[in-house]
Parts: sequence; C-alpha cells; structure tokens
Amino acid sequence: MNVLVTGGAGYIGSHTCVELIHAGHTPIVIDNLRNSNPKSLDRVREITGQTVALYEGDVRDEALLERIFDENEIHCAIHFAGLKAVGESCAIPLEYYQNNLCSTMTLCKVMGKRGVKGIIFSSSATVYSGDNEMPLRENSRTGNCTNPYGWTKYMGEQILRDIAKADPQWSVVLLRYFNPVGAHESGKIGEHPNGIPNNLMPYISQTAIGKREKLSVFGNDYATHDGTGVRDYIHVVDLARGHVAAVNYLCEHKGEAVFNLGTGTGYSVLDMVKAFETANGVKVPYVIAPRRPGDLDTCYADPAKSAQILGWTAKHDQNDMCRDTWNWQSQNPNGFDD
Ligand code: NAD
Ligand code: UFG
Repeated sequence: MNVLVTGGAGYIGSHTCVELIHAGHTPIVIDNLRNSNPKSLDRVREITGQTVALYEGDVRDEALLERIFDENEIHCAIHFAGLKAVGESCAIPLEYYQNNLCSTMTLCKVMGKRGVKGIIFSSSATVYSGDNEMPLRENSRTGNCTNPYGWTKYMGEQILRDIAKADPQWSVVLLRYFNPVGAHESGKIGEHPNGIPNNLMPYISQTAIGKREKLSVFGNDYATHDGTGVRDYIHVVDLARGHVAAVNYLCEHKGEAVFNLGTGTGYSVLDMVKAFETANGVKVPYVIAPRRPGDLDTCYADPAKSAQILGWTAKHDQNDMCRDTWNWQSQNPNGFDD
C-alpha cells in the first residue's frame, strides 16, 4: 500500500516510516519541517535501504495535497502532522487550533474528493478526562481537557467520527497514544526536542549526557507507590508497529474505531530514573520540585482491545526503552543538528 504519512519526518512518523517499509508498504511524506529535520528521512533510508519521498509543505495547503494525489496513487493516510507542546498550546491556542484542526479538515477534504477514505489519526491519552478509574479503556470518559492541545485531539476525533458517520465508505482509526519514549535500536532516529524538553525521557537523557544539570521531579506527594507520577511509557517502535496493524485493519473495516496504544503497565518518575541509570550505567541527578499544574497522579492504558482486534501488543520493556533512548542520545548528542 502507498501510505500518505503527514508529519512523517517527526519523531513517531519517522519510526512509522521504517516499520511501514519493513511491512512492505511505501510511505509518502508531507511535512513542513516546523518541528523536524529532513535528515530523519535520510536515516530512514540508511536503516531500510529505501528512499522516502518527501513533500516539504503544509498539510493545510490544499493545492499541494492535490499535487501529491496527482503524482502518487495513495491508498490511505496516517495523519501525524500537528503541534504537540502542551505548555505552548496554552500560550498560542489559536495557532494550535488552526494548525491541528485545519490540517485534519483539509486532508479529509482532498482525500474524500479523491475517493481515498481510510485515515489513521494520532490521538492521545490526553483526551480522557481526569476523573476516570485506571486503567483507561476506550469507552472511559473523555473531555474536560486541561489545555488547548488536548482539545485539538478531542475535536479532531469528533470531526473524523462525524465524517465516518456521514459517509459509510470512510474508515477512520483513532489511535490514543500513551507516553511514547525510546528510539530505533540502530540509534539513527529518535526524538529531537526543540530547546528545553518538556517530557520526562528526553529530560532524563539530556541530564545524563550533561546538557542539563539535574532533573526536576515534579512532585513526590502523589497517591502512588513512591509519591511520583505514574505513566504508561511505550517504546516508539512498538507504537510504530501499532500503526502498521491499523493499516491492515483499515483495509478490512469501514466506519470508526478507537484503540489505546499503551503497554498497560505504569512506572513512576523515580522508577524511570532508576531504570535509566541501571540500563546505561550513568547517573541522573535529580531534585524534588513542586507539582506541575495539570498533571495527574496516575495514567495507564488497558490495551486489551488493541490486542484482541488489531492483534497488536507492545513487545519492548522498560529496559529496552531506557537503552534505546540512551543509544540515540549518546550517538547524536545534538539530535539531527551537526
Ligand atoms: P513531532 O513534532 O516530532 O512530529 C509532528 C510532525 O508534524 C513534525 O515533523 C512537524 O514538522 C509536522 N507538522 C506539524 N504541523 C504541520 C503541518 N501543518 N503541515 C505539515 N507538517 C506539519 O511529534 P510526534 O511526537 O512525532 O507526534 C506525532 C503526532 O502524535 C502528533 O499529532 C502528536 O500530537 C501526537 N501525539 C504525540 C505524543 C507524544 O508524546 N510524542 C503523544 C500523543 C499524541
Ligand atoms: N516529569 C517530571 N519532570 C520533568 C518532566 C516530567 O517529573 O522534567 C513527570 C511529570 O510530572 C509526569 C511524568 O514525568 O508525572 C511524565 O511527564 P511527561 O511530560 O513526559 O508526559 P505527560 O504524561 O505529562 O504527557 C505526555 C505528552 C502529552 C500526551 C500525554 C498522554 O506530553 O502530549 O503524554 O499521551 F497527551
């Protein structure tokens, strides 16, 4: 299958290109490179031996999308393109709504016109409301998002659900990711956060390599086994393989379906620090800092539906996540920058 991969030069997109190629598919990427470097796709070629076509531009550019459909026989799309920084979304909400929602609508408009009606959407555990019991199931309550980024995912899901309801030819798969971490085992592709990382794992690895002095652990008085926040960390290669499973599912099903992509296991911040130190023989200095506003104490998935229907489960463990994060970080201390 020829798969249009929006945002394919980014962190999850580049790993998904590798897994699509391994599964015999052909990814075609559109990315405006706002949060990525085209070198990621050179590295995908080094890993797979296959060149990935990159259209550099914005998914909201309808004429460019038309050109991509003119020049390629596209069978379905995986829609990763979007802005994803929670804090930034509070500072520039309009840009987040504009980018994340208009890109989804423009993409669907052109796909519908071309009769290509299969789409996989990058959603997030952030769409679940904070008052649910754990583990989170696909039918747990959604909404009450705490930031504009979360609302763009919630609204993006709704737009796609409505499209599938209105036209039974559409097949829409909503994938709710938990906390993606790690990197390809080759160390050639990985996460390259801009500036100071917001997320735990890149902060840990940048501290271990000496770019940051110490990690601030945001709160140690949560109702968890050691007082620090618990999350469902998932290796990015497992996540990428979840998309390949979703492509297979799309071929055989119409309508809308939603799946959690998580492991079902929660680890605390201090669990991750200790695992990182043990896996890599490095020190991660840390201090306990105040809670970060908006954080939950615990968040983890029930991945049973994905296992049952997609035939997908996460295979990498916590040690793999820590090892591969460090492998990427130590081989590429400045990410894709020279
Ligand atoms: P990323 O920033 O590395 O990748 C997103 C890519 O989209 C980037 O390459 C960026 O340049 C591109 N892009 C953004 N807006 C665009 C536009 N209008 N047109 C063309 N390209 C555009 O992020 P990621 O971590 O790979 O995330 C991929 C998707 O998964 C995003 O939609 C994100 O919201 C979602 N997601 C990520 C996480 C996470 O923790 N990484 C968790 C849940 C959901
Ligand atoms: N944390 C620290 N110190 C840091 C960074 C994070 O202690 O420097 C803690 C947080 O308080 C939290 C845990 O580490 O307890 C994980 O935090 P992240 O920022 O890595 O991840 P979140 O669970 O807050 O959010 C991530 C993505 C969201 C996505 C969500 C669910 O950033 O976009 O997972 O998928 F919506």
